[in-house]
Amino acid sequence: MVRNNSHHDLVSVQQLDAAAVLHKIKLATAFQNGLQIQLKRPVYAMNLFFENSTRTHTSFEMAEQRLGLGVISFQPSSSSMTKGESLLDTLKTIQAIGVDLAVVRHQQNAYYTPILAADLDLSLINAGDGSGEHPSQSLLDMMTIYQEFGHFAGLKVGIIGDIAHSRVARSNAELLTQLDAQVAFAGPESWFPNEFNEFGPHVTVDQLVMDADVIMLLRVQHERLSETAEDGFDTVEYHQAFGLTKERIARLQPQAIIMHPGPVNRGVEIDSDLVESKHSRIFKQMTNGMLMRMAIITDILAARQLITPFELGGSK
Ligand code: CP
Repeated sequence: MVRNNSHHDLVSVQQLDAAAVLHKIKLATAFQNGLQIQLKRPVYAMNLFFENSTRTHTSFEMAEQRLGLGVISFQPSSSSMTKGESLLDTLKTIQAIGVDLAVVRHQQNAYYTPILAADLDLSLINAGDGSGEHPSQSLLDMMTIYQEFGHFAGLKVGIIGDIAHSRVARSNAELLTQLDAQVAFAGPESWFPNEFNEFGPHVTVDQLVMDADVIMLLRVQHERLSETAEDGFDTVEYHQAFGLTKERIARLQPQAIIMHPGPVNRGVEIDSDLVESKHSRIFKQMTNGMLMRMAIITDILAARQLITPFELGGSK
């Protein structure tokens, strides 16, 4: 799946080990503290989003601008993909024109497989593939957890909601397990695929809320539900059965934090008032997202020798 030089792209958390995650957190923190990089030549990025986005798209664009990259706009609806051009040919086209880095969100799981096989000079960052993976979200989530606890081993992390359709759940379950955190899941059993059993048990929301250091809430992915599942969905019933209510938050551990990748459907997966509660790190995640995306892009530019080498506490 991943080409030989895996530092050239970021498409999956499977490319990352514990040391790589800690390095990216350190680099993102250095950007928070004012680190600046120097480009050896003008570098151009394009963000190709075939599914809607606020956080990921804006924070990648902000990260690119803060790193000094030229950002070339792309609108799928007015591109030649509407005339039948494939994603691969679109990427070959923008590479030929001089784009160095493509950030792609696409509804198809593993859309990146044929792109990596084509071994383009263009670097690829996966900004979310269907219900597959969301590696940059997972890294910013790891940064948020690390800022709070300073470690991952033994932390109890509960992921609640629509596990089946969530690329965030998949990437986070993979990475948290690799970092020796203890993962458990809650939510509708019909949205808990067997493949997630390898990461942790499915328990009740009440059990999970009482034990967890970290609670990750997930939005119901209506765009990926069948019409039958949509017809049977009731927001009030869902909130009572699986949402983080005021009754449930009263039973949280004092150190517990609440996370949500966004967008939040207030009153469904979480009571609206709890989005800004003292346990919530939801807006912190968004700030960290921009910093982590600066780190992800910087590591790719460093691997391609497009920036002047710099010291980061002994590592480059
Ligand atoms: N978390 C996340 O991917 O949000 P957006 O869809 O707004 O980018």
